[in-house]
Amino acid sequence: MKIFLDTADLAEIEQLLPTGMIDGVTTNPSLIAKSGADIKKTIAAICEMVSGPVSAEVTATDVETMRKEADVLAAIAPNVTVKLPLTQAGLTVCKQLSAQDVMTNVTLCFSPVQALMAAKAGASFISPFVGRLDDLGQDGMNLIRDIYDVYANYAFETEILVASIRGPQHVTDAALIGADVVTIPPKILAQLYKHPLTDKGLADFLADWDKTGQSIL
Ligand code: G3P
Repeated sequence: MKIFLDTADLAEIEQLLPTGMIDGVTTNPSLIAKSGADIKKTIAAICEMVSGPVSAEVTATDVETMRKEADVLAAIAPNVTVKLPLTQAGLTVCKQLSAQDVMTNVTLCFSPVQALMAAKAGASFISPFVGRLDDLGQDGMNLIRDIYDVYANYAFETEILVASIRGPQHVTDAALIGADVVTIPPKILAQLYKHPLTDKGLADFLADWDKTGQSIL
């Protein structure tokens, strides 16, 4: 399973790249706003740091303007993935871009039939938002299960990119289902390594090691 970082913060990306766990980056208009930086410069900088897909989202809502924005974003670097909303206009532009082999990420997906439409539009990635469904009292992971089954039924190549991840359990569940990608906020990446028994076991080992007076180096 691939792991993308869900951030537009260059310092966070730089800090976590040496882990070797980062396969790509996703951004959205809210994350760009939070970074306070220029979208084109930010996406260019991320694409220099990360060789995998880097999602950059359009903000227009009509086909013509959205397509112009998509072309500007796609021209920034070969690994830009144009992020489009799951609307009729977004899927129209998705179909155009996929015909030209431009990578696309269709976002704000909340139902299996929306995911079906995105796959028919040739999306490279579909981004279902599990956390926001959980927030409404639903089980967001049921959406991932349903999309997985729908895509398997028709052998769609669109990759399931689980978004709006709130914690390690979402990552575990996505992996058990077989989702292709999770995009996670940087602070959650650190949580994926953690287990209290690992910390306790290491402390015990080191305490015993100290008693030996030995040194490996
Ligand atoms: O990038 C899209 C998605 O991951 C947003 O997550 O936490 O704003 O629901 P959140």
